[in-house]
Amino acid sequence: MAAQLVVALLAFTSLSAAASESDCKELVKPLVLDSHSPIYGKWVLHVGSWDKHDLKTDLLSVHSSWVELSPTSDSGVISLYWADRLSEEKCLQGAANVSISGITSHTTFIINGHTSYHDGKYYETCSDCLLSEDTTLLPDGKSKGRYLFLFTRTGVLEPSELETFKKQAECLGFLPEYHFVSTDLCPDDRGESTSPADRKTETDQAENQPAED
Ligand SMILES: *[C@@H]1O[C@H](CO)[C@@H](O)[C@H](O)[C@H]1NC(C)=O
Repeated sequence: MAAQLVVALLAFTSLSAAASESDCKELVKPLVLDSHSPIYGKWVLHVGSWDKHDLKTDLLSVHSSWVELSPTSDSGVISLYWADRLSEEKCLQGAANVSISGITSHTTFIINGHTSYHDGKYYETCSDCLLSEDTTLLPDGKSKGRYLFLFTRTGVLEPSELETFKKQAECLGFLPEYHFVSTDLCPDDRGESTSPADRKTETDQAENQPAED
């Protein structure tokens, strides 16, 4: 009787835990990055998390962020355009090639002469969402830490979808800390619609800023 009670209590304990191991198996499914991956198009960042406190400061400087992923003629390469708003009048944007193999991607960002290396993984998530894990690599190839980013098409997210994100973050070993960004996006600086004068004020290149994968 006592043993049965202990078993029952143990079962209850694991049920009440935020995310059990088997939950995590269901919650965290890496996407295979092939040409059918539903990752293309423009995405607006909603929330980010991190696994090391050192990474927090960099992310907190980002007020809004969007990325656009598009296929290239090379099936192993995705074209990435990103734009981060750092303050009301300060935008930072640029392009990068993402090389993909299986479930991992590798991106080299060159921002104002500074090179940074990122490994990426994408996971199954809500429809019209993009869940991206970004590992920042130090020049020696060691990990500086990871970010987990949830993008949506509009930047808006349902509360239930946020709860799922938090569980996925927990499963992946992220801290239960989140940075929610605004949807006050930087304008796309690639087109001709922006005059060079506007562009000058909009795009004030800063150094050592984080970039999303
Ligand atoms: C991406 O790769 C293409 C083809 O190699 C190259 O022309 C282009 O400059 C690269 N873009 C960036 C941002 O590195």
